Amino acid sequence: MAGFNSNEYRMLQSFQWQNLSSDQQFSLWKDAKIKTFAHVNAAAPIRIKSFNTADFDSIKSIKDQCRGANLSLFEIHDVPKSENEAAKELAGFASRFGLTLPETHRSEGEDGVVALKTSSASRQKGYIPYTPRALNWHTDGYYNAESARVQAFALYCHNPAVKGGDNQFIDGEIAYMRMRDENPDYVRAFMHPQALTIPANEENDGDGRPVSVGPVFYPDSVTGRLQMRYTARTRSIEWRTDTQTQEAVAWMREWLDRGDEFRVQLGLKAGQGVLNNNVLHNRTSFEDDPNGGGQRIMMRARFHDRISEE
Ligand SMILES: [Fe+2]
Repeated sequence: MAGFNSNEYRMLQSFQWQNLSSDQQFSLWKDAKIKTFAHVNAAAPIRIKSFNTADFDSIKSIKDQCRGANLSLFEIHDVPKSENEAAKELAGFASRFGLTLPETHRSEGEDGVVALKTSSASRQKGYIPYTPRALNWHTDGYYNAESARVQAFALYCHNPAVKGGDNQFIDGEIAYMRMRDENPDYVRAFMHPQALTIPANEENDGDGRPVSVGPVFYPDSVTGRLQMRYTARTRSIEWRTDTQTQEAVAWMREWLDRGDEFRVQLGLKAGQGVLNNNVLHNRTSFEDDPNGGGQRIMMRARFHDRISEE
């Protein structure tokens, strides 16, 4: 990023976040993280003529923003006309960020991209993403097996809701930072390999999902950077029962409710989207046009790899 200190980026990449004993390293990292995050957060959306013609500089800017803040907002000028075109173009665009391992998803269309919209299809029935209801804080794929973790996703607004449907995002590294400031033992509890269990999901058609057990904070297997696996839901979920974990869960819920100066709130307009390293996010409830004129359609692509860093 022009005019920005590359030492700070290096600091973010090399920080040993799993080592909770060095307060000095933590303090240095924190300064770098806050500076970098604030810089990205204050930036305008990165404007791109079209998905297919995105130039090298725009791609680099998005990569740099994700390296610093794990999130980048972009805006497409020549938008794809149809859902199918949007899916195809979004998949092609994502591949330019080293995102080459798409998640196979029950609701995906072509190119591993899912169209999130109100749906009455039987496979989607009852799943909140396909209703106009609010979605609580989570990271994507928190219920996945360890071998299929989601490290990044792209979200692109093909058509906004008539009302509502805003998203909020919080960088997992900011969550880690706030939690470690509050109590490093909470971070330790969230790093435990059995911190969070999502029981198996049995389905009538036998197409269930096995139990998912794992930590909240874990390292990306390639870069070592912090990734998060979290849900604020309270049903069909088992947290470790020790005091530290229970206190950490309560603190996290309270902190997310309270808000943070680095919480990013976006009402994505048609043509806008985000690329991110699977940061915490939620969604407010929304309304589609009752006359059938407009329906909220968000295209989403999930990946098992992080956005590449240069
Ligand atoms: Fe999500």
